[in-house]
Amino acid sequence: MPDEMRDTAAIIGREEVDDLEAILSVTNTERDEVIHAVHSNYDTIFTWDYEKGSRPKLDKLYEKAKKAQWNAQTDLPWETPVDQEEIVVANAVATGGFGAGADLTGTPFAKWGEKEWLRLGVEAQNWTLSQFMHGEQGALVCTAKIVESVPWIDAKYYAATQVMDEARHVEVFNKYLSEKLSGSYPVNAHLRLLLDDIIKDSRWDMTYLGMQIMVEGLALAAFGFMHQMTTEPLLKKLLRYVMSDEARHVAFGVLSLQEHYQQLDSSELRERQEFAFEAAVRMRDRFLQQEVWERLGVSPKEVIPIMNQVPERKIFQTMLFSKIVPNCKKLGLLDAADGWLRDRFTEIGVISFEDWADTGEEYESLQSAPASAAS
Ligand SMILES: [Fe+2]
Ligand SMILES: [Fe+2]
Repeated sequence: MPDEMRDTAAIIGREEVDDLEAILSVTNTERDEVIHAVHSNYDTIFTWDYEKGSRPKLDKLYEKAKKAQWNAQTDLPWETPVDQEEIVVANAVATGGFGAGADLTGTPFAKWGEKEWLRLGVEAQNWTLSQFMHGEQGALVCTAKIVESVPWIDAKYYAATQVMDEARHVEVFNKYLSEKLSGSYPVNAHLRLLLDDIIKDSRWDMTYLGMQIMVEGLALAAFGFMHQMTTEPLLKKLLRYVMSDEARHVAFGVLSLQEHYQQLDSSELRERQEFAFEAAVRMRDRFLQQEVWERLGVSPKEVIPIMNQVPERKIFQTMLFSKIVPNCKKLGLLDAADGWLRDRFTEIGVISFEDWADTGEEYESLQSAPASAAS
């Protein structure tokens, strides 16, 4: 391996991936800011090669995207009443009760009653949907950047449809949060660091890798999990619509990078692996939802290890990687550079997803939201 390659500490800012203290020391310092500026330094690319369809798979995706547009204001049943506490109770019942599966003796949870558990459920939902919304804005900005920076006309066309999709996603999550839930959260610091890194990088394919493969791959899995779990019909439908778009977005990333990576050498691929690993760890860190614990007045350091024993949470945190790992494999990223990324994904316990379906074609089955998103 070339010696400029970085070790874990250089990539993620700590030696041990699971160093909770280090994770929690990363906090949002600009809670009251309305504007967050990130300086990016990349070339805006014009192409004079206008031949549409020279990349047939991207062209096909673009034509699909044009037909799959929907209207956030009129295609969803916004009149549906949402009782947030009722939903929290239903979720708890479905998973065996509040805190089921963890030994709470002698922990701060031991004296919690229904009121406290309800508040946790409500805040966790406010937090989760808030982070989805912020991530969607990240996607909006990143795909606008891809329109500018990618050299291929078919990719510029496709990315332009995705900009519209992402605007709609920010819009629906914000509308759901402000009309149906009971408060919102600022962007999580780990998520913000990741979005900043993706935007700052001058290489166009890094925007793709960070956003289309990592953030969107995780979003697709998280939305799918929530879509399956929730009993609230408006949210279910909203997620179904969003997922039908997201599956195309991840496919866009896989199809574009597959071509580009073929011409990269081993040390260039290693840089992509490091970027993927950094993104994976940041996303894992954000799901500790430290801001929720702070808002509830309990010490994140004390309760996170306890909550991590809850089986449902463990499954959720691993499932988040169920799209990312097979997509990285399809791109050749797992085994390039002596399998560096395979080793990292093994360390964080997600390598078992490598043979799950990749998302290069999944959009076919999640197509045409307006017509088929009845459930
Ligand atoms: Fe999105
Ligand atoms: Fe997306």
